[in-house]
Amino acid sequence: MSVVALVPAAGRGERLGAAVPKALVELDGEPLLVHAVRGLWASGCVQHVVVAAPPTQCDVVTAALSSLGAAVTVVPGGAERTESVWLALQAALAAVPDTEVVLVHDAARAFTPPAMIRSVVDAVRAGAPAVIPVLPLADTVKQVDAEGRVLATVDRASLRAVQTPQGFERGVLVRAHRAAAAAALGATDDAGLVERLGEPVLTVPGHTDAMKITTPFDLAVATALLTHRGL
Ligand code: CTP
Ligand code: MG
Repeated sequence: MSVVALVPAAGRGERLGAAVPKALVELDGEPLLVHAVRGLWASGCVQHVVVAAPPTQCDVVTAALSSLGAAVTVVPGGAERTESVWLALQAALAAVPDTEVVLVHDAARAFTPPAMIRSVVDAVRAGAPAVIPVLPLADTVKQVDAEGRVLATVDRASLRAVQTPQGFERGVLVRAHRAAAAAALGATDDAGLVERLGEPVLTVPGHTDAMKITTPFDLAVATALLTHRGL
């Protein structure tokens, strides 16, 4: 049963505001994308990785990943994350026709623990069509209107923050993305597209180290993690 990992890495990283696309921003001398792919490969349960790169940076990305010793294909990404994932998915199925499990993992979650990656794959292998790692929320959450007036306090106990990798039975992810493309729908995560199909989505425990590096603050936190914990 082959497992492929798709790594959308084609975003510009506007909120980070670096001179290069976010996936190529370096931490400890290596691009975030290299850290992320190393973690996927270290999980020991991924046979092939397909990276959706910034379209003008495919050569740079290929060179950056070459030293990892991982089976990697680099494709140009799209204008939206959903499109990047769809392009990577098509390349993955062409490269590994017997793919049964597909992981989708943000390049920006550079320090995701390999054990968490394995737990997602194991849950799909055990029969769940879609699996997402989640964390409980620390802050109280309010629903507000356009003017910023509070409408309601949402019950925090029932809310979860969602991470990646998200894992899917191959056919479910293909159907979800076909339906999204037909309806011109985007989503900030792939499980959201699967939910629209009416398929069940299972949660497994996430990990704080799998934080998404979005802002300069996040980059500082990730740098501190590396320094203090030897990640
Ligand atoms: N992504 C992608 N293709 C896009 C947009 C985003 O592959 N057209 C990827 C990013 O590279 C990132 C992941 O999707 O690894 C999550 O997106 P996000 O954290 O929002 O990254 P960016 O879109 O690069 O950042 P920003 O929204 O601040 O510009
Ligand atoms: Mg974005």
